[in-house]
Amino acid sequence: MPRFDEGRPEMTLEEFRLLRDHVYAHCGILIHENMKFVMERRLWPRLEALGIQDFGSYHRYLRYDAQRHAELEAAVESLTTHETYFFREPAQLKAFCEELLPILEKRNAHTRRLRLWSAGCSSGEEAYTLAMLLKDSGRFNDWDVEVIGTDLSRRVLAVARRAEYGPSALRATPPDLLERYFIPVGVNRVRVRDDVKAWVNFGHHNLADVAGSQLVPRTDVVFCRNVMIYFDQAARRRVLGVIRDRLCPGGYLLLGHAENLLSLGADFELVHLKGDLVYRRPELPGGEGR
Ligand SMILES: C[S@@+](CC[C@H](N)C(=O)[O-])C[C@H]1O[C@@H](n2cnc3c(N)ncnc32)[C@H](O)[C@@H]1O
Repeated sequence: MPRFDEGRPEMTLEEFRLLRDHVYAHCGILIHENMKFVMERRLWPRLEALGIQDFGSYHRYLRYDAQRHAELEAAVESLTTHETYFFREPAQLKAFCEELLPILEKRNAHTRRLRLWSAGCSSGEEAYTLAMLLKDSGRFNDWDVEVIGTDLSRRVLAVARRAEYGPSALRATPPDLLERYFIPVGVNRVRVRDDVKAWVNFGHHNLADVAGSQLVPRTDVVFCRNVMIYFDQAARRRVLGVIRDRLCPGGYLLLGHAENLLSLGADFELVHLKGDLVYRRPELPGGEGR
């Protein structure tokens, strides 16, 4: 087996492909061949922790060991990025508040119920941001409101449930909102206020798990931002099918600004807001049965 100078095993191309395919089948994240070195470096601590000598044996461990599910989570954890912060992409959030919230208030006036889903929520900043914006709008205060945050990583979900954050998470938070919706809890740390937390629930969910997605309630809006950039076209298609299925007919999908559905958009309509482009699941009758 070829070895690095520091005594670390080198990943052969065949081992890389086996590991890449295994990760891809699990969660849709596609690691390109030019990232072999990065994969090697990030997975090496896992081999060290398990006392495994080479990547071929690590692949066999991931496939057959009794601990394989937990280990696959650990492997994916070390290969993914969880970068996020409160009030990310403010122009999109402005369009959401000024243009979509009035529509949703009208549409759901008869049920007075609103459901939002932050799919790939990381450590919770996006889900709490949405809850804060709903509160701040003053439109839904006596409604039945829930923001659902889901992610593949249990580690970031634990952070989300704790709801305590430092300066990096707050770097784009407008000072007046910082004042209104957070409580200081220590040097440079704040906690999300309880009435905001009461509107938000977190759960573990793999967007590539089509059957498991049935457990996600139907929602009026899905934010799936900066998640699918790591997927290939086939995985994106599958995940968009899941999202479409969990959206109410006429419900909206908001993606990150680096993402679009131009080549995939048949199941969604493009909606031109004044301040943003968003997607909508078609209304019935063109919607439900398809
Ligand atoms: C870069 S963060 C984006 C967080 C937030 N949406 C934002 O835009 O600030 C991407 C998140 O997607 C999650 N993720 C990646 N693949 C996933 C999958 N198949 N199912 C669910 N979450 C996934 C990662 O764990 C990570 O926390």
